[in-house]
Amino acid sequence: MKKLEHLFKNNTDWAEKIKAENPNFFKELAEQQSPEYLWIGCSDSRVPANQLLSLAPGEVFVHRNIANVVVHTDINCLSVLQFAVDVLKVKHIIVCGHYGCGGINAAINKTKHGHNTREANLIDNWLGHIEDVARFHKDELQNLNEEQYQQRLCELNVIEQVNNVCNTSIVNKAWNEGADLTVHGWIYDINNGILKDLDASTNTSEKRKH
Ligand code: CO
Repeated sequence: MKKLEHLFKNNTDWAEKIKAENPNFFKELAEQQSPEYLWIGCSDSRVPANQLLSLAPGEVFVHRNIANVVVHTDINCLSVLQFAVDVLKVKHIIVCGHYGCGGINAAINKTKHGHNTREANLIDNWLGHIEDVARFHKDELQNLNEEQYQQRLCELNVIEQVNNVCNTSIVNKAWNEGADLTVHGWIYDINNGILKDLDASTNTSEKRKH
């Protein structure tokens, strides 16, 4: 069995480097975490929250899944959200998508080709949430070429997931109690490493009410 020695070597090198800069770093961090940010991003290996924000351990609480989807019945995501908001009292929730998202592309292909052209997988059920986003925004999307469609759906998915975060009982309760909490929608470009704010930020439930 391969024991992945190189990763353990990387790890000790990394820990030594940090301790050389600040001998108490791990000791202090072990006592408590107080991150200001919750990151909800894609699992894609090219979109690592801490690294692209240049944040140290302890500075961002992270939830990642395929295509950064916030589903109201996903107890995993909701538990992260609840802990981040109620216990850690994060000030910012960042939903961050990325261009070239494989989950978005797979949803587009599935919509185009249907279920029967390939073997159905568990992930198809998850991608149904992306298909919903495409359906909500059909009018805007229908006039775009293939590349524009793919990019815009990545953006619209972020905006819809921001709405989903804002509509959770967790975030509503926090706002009703006067919490200083803002929800942001960002997108990351894997071609140049740059983040863009989609101007979907909100810190009130007012405009979400129907
Ligand atoms: Co992705």
